[in-house]
Amino acid sequence: MSIRIMGTGSALPGRVVENRELEGMVDTSDEWIRERTGIGSRHVSTGETVASLAAEACGRALADAGRQAEEVELILAATCSPEEAAPCVACRIQSEIGAGNAVAFDVNAACAGFLFALHTAWAYVEAGIYRNALIAGSEVLSKLVDWEDRATCILFGDGAGAVVLEWRDEGDAGILSSYMENSDDTERTLWCDSAFTARTVPFDAEQGLPEADAACDPYMRMAGQAVFKFATAAMVRCTEEALARAQLSVDDVALFAPHQANERIIRYAAKKMDLPLERFQIIIDHVGNVSGASALIALNEALCEGKLKQGDVACMAGFGGGLTAGACVFRI
Ligand code: COA
Repeated sequence: MSIRIMGTGSALPGRVVENRELEGMVDTSDEWIRERTGIGSRHVSTGETVASLAAEACGRALADAGRQAEEVELILAATCSPEEAAPCVACRIQSEIGAGNAVAFDVNAACAGFLFALHTAWAYVEAGIYRNALIAGSEVLSKLVDWEDRATCILFGDGAGAVVLEWRDEGDAGILSSYMENSDDTERTLWCDSAFTARTVPFDAEQGLPEADAACDPYMRMAGQAVFKFATAAMVRCTEEALARAQLSVDDVALFAPHQANERIIRYAAKKMDLPLERFQIIIDHVGNVSGASALIALNEALCEGKLKQGDVACMAGFGGGLTAGACVFRI
């Protein structure tokens, strides 16, 4: 038996923002952004929502898998940028695609969210609770970014990716291992205060608490170099751990589809694992950092470009706010 990735899909907002456009908004340059991050442009939502992008990506993944929405038993949405506190994005996807028989809920593990959701779905299917699962990673980080902060606004983009997982009685294709880990971030290297709770309540003054709306900074903040250090180490560590659990080595992997936060992070990890950059699917040049959706979009693009054939082993790795990190190894 195996738990197999049956289909993938992705969706990006129509509006493309080139680096040159940002030059007119903050003190930056196309050259600086390309050289330090590998980003040339990103897609920014001008009406698309986390749920609408996720539903579009899910529809494509289902079509790719040859499955109907009514057949889906579990929907997990990974996001750290939902527009509303309730209903959750997975419930929105469920009603938008018409997956009336599914159980649906969200997972928030920031940029590693897709991996945590995939791991959770894998565990449910492995336990025999559900026979299949639809997993989406969807983000509209443009709404959490401070467009006056050049250190962060140049990095992020919006979009969604999705995969269909299914229990199969036969074959050796499917998930071979999955690994998740958390490390402490009390130093706050990567955070975003909640926009949902930026309100005072009648009891705040009574308890001597600071006024919540005065204290809340709704934008994403980051200690760039500290995050860079964490990201490079986590990507290598988690990839090696997931491969060890699958009893494989980096040489067995046909393609790596990692989270894309900075092309230099991918280059560093490739060098550390003694791998040519060609073995990595790099999409950051045209989508930026799409947080919990990045690696799913990368996997979808790799498959669309015919870079993986049946029997190939692929690996996804991710890291993000929390701090969260993980990796997953599977056979196509
Ligand atoms: N344009 C031009 N200059 C910029 C700039 C921009 N957009 N952003 C920062 N700078 C400046 C800084 O102010 C600094 O100037 P100074 O030397 O006069 O003080 C200089 O560039 C170097 O800044 P630094 O922060 O050292 O650059 P860096 O090489 O570390 O690159 C990041 C910054 C953010 C691109 C990089 O640290 C990074 O990618 N970090 C990880 C981000 C990440 O992974 N986030 C999400 C995790 S899921």
